[in-house]
Amino acid sequence: MKSLKKLLPIILLLMSLSACYYDNAEELYPDACKKSNISYSEDIVPIMNMNCISCHASDNANMFGGEIDLESYSGIIETVTDSSLSGSINHTEGFSPMPFESMLPDCQRKQIEIWIEEGAKNN
Ligand code: HEC
Repeated sequence: MKSLKKLLPIILLLMSLSACYYDNAEELYPDACKKSNISYSEDIVPIMNMNCISCHASDNANMFGGEIDLESYSGIIETVTDSSLSGSINHTEGFSPMPFESMLPDCQRKQIEIWIEEGAKNN
């Protein structure tokens, strides 16, 4: 019992440290958001996989994603060309807001915008 009491402050400290760990990395490290040389494969694909592919995968886009395929580069380029990618993630009037119920974090929206500005390369 005695040793448990000694351990308590350590346990509390560890718990508070792990709470920090889950904080938004962007707030803790403002420079953590890469803002140039955005890569399709390294930066854009992971954002799509995490947030969009559940509905917009190539093979189920017909069923869940309004026939929009965000799994393939050529599919994404169509939404770049008609401005719907940028319109939807920024919840611009005239476009369907994506994701429906929330907004992507600032950093991810910025990275998509920068990738488009840099020429939406298949890099
Ligand atoms: C829960 C399913 C679902 C998820 C998750 C989802 N979408 Fe969609 N999305 C749809 C459906 C359905 C449509 C077609 C109907 C509509 O426009 O509302 C659509 C339409 C779109 C359009 C066309 C919008 C327009 O106004 O022309 C774009 C671009 C798009 N989605 C991008 C995304 C992106 C980027 C993500 C991830 C950040 C995403 N979607 C996540 C279901 C989803």
